[in-house]
Amino acid sequence: MQSFEQLSEKFTLHFDHPHFPAEPASLYEPNEYFLRLGGKRVRPVLCLMGNELFEEIKTDAWEVATAIELFHNFTLIHDDIMDKAPLRRGMETVHTKFGDNTALLAGDVMLVKAYEYLSKIDTVCLYPILYLFNQTAREVCEGQQWDMDFEKKETVSLDEYLRMIELKTSVLLAASLKMGAILGGSGERNQNLLYEFGRKLGIAFQVQDDYLDAFGDPQKFGKQVGGDILANKKTFLLIHAMESASIGQQKELSKLLNGNEAGKVENVLQIFRDCKVDEWALQLKNRYLDEAFAHLEDIAVLSKRKEPLKELAHFLVQRQH
Ligand code: IPE
Ligand code: IPE
Ligand code: MG
Ligand code: MG
Ligand code: MG
Repeated sequence: MQSFEQLSEKFTLHFDHPHFPAEPASLYEPNEYFLRLGGKRVRPVLCLMGNELFEEIKTDAWEVATAIELFHNFTLIHDDIMDKAPLRRGMETVHTKFGDNTALLAGDVMLVKAYEYLSKIDTVCLYPILYLFNQTAREVCEGQQWDMDFEKKETVSLDEYLRMIELKTSVLLAASLKMGAILGGSGERNQNLLYEFGRKLGIAFQVQDDYLDAFGDPQKFGKQVGGDILANKKTFLLIHAMESASIGQQKELSKLLNGNEAGKVENVLQIFRDCKVDEWALQLKNRYLDEAFAHLEDIAVLSKRKEPLKELAHFLVQRQH
């Protein structure tokens, strides 16, 4: 069994080469630029781990892992346009550096490239994997639209928020694991348990993402701190603050959110702090992490084989970037 560190090193070696032709450089260079920025490579590693939980890593798993990482990067390029984000992985976002139109097209062609890698795998696994890939891609789009719709809504419930992050974030983590399991020849029951593990883990992962967006260390985070506040995102921080704040704080919060005054981020953060959202974040993460581990527990393989996944799960909910 290989650790997160070992597998991400191997994946990086496999993945870090140009994926696009030289011309037109105005289209492909933005993509190569973005891929060179790296990232944690969590999803491809989940795919490889999902495979190795059951059997030695198949050659095809590298193609699927590559497709998944390209798909993820495509979603980030488009997400940064939608979120008007200036920074990603500590560097300028594609749309900031190259313009919205190029970023749209660069993302599109990145998605096509993902399917090219996927189409290389053996036909036996291609059908179930393609089916899952497509379903996941559709769900991510749905989640992203909910996320934008919520920007314009005054209030969003915790359940609505959870459903939204499940779609925009969790399903890709879950599907990465399940695709690995399919390649590893696992039975359907184990595949589904692994998917559920990923789904719950993904919720905890996005909770941490939202937490860092407000309270991350700008030196480590790599994205604009306070970006979600500026974009009026309905994160659990805001939902919790709205629920637990005093009437006075609630009014203050609404006023801040409806305006765009200087100091908006700092003032909203202060209310978040007063409402102890950090304690709530920890509770929420632990709840989903526990649920995730319960599914992992039920998977019928030797518990020693599950160690790398456990280690990765702990890293993901505690990460600072
Ligand atoms: C960012 O994902 C998008 C979310 C779903 C929160 P990651 O935090 O995995 O991004 P990179 O690939 O490591 O930059
Ligand atoms: C993004 O969620 C999810 C997808 C890219 C599908 P966020 O908008 O919170 O991700 P970051 O914080 O920009 O990475
Ligand atoms: Mg974003
Ligand atoms: Mg977003
Ligand atoms: Mg975020």
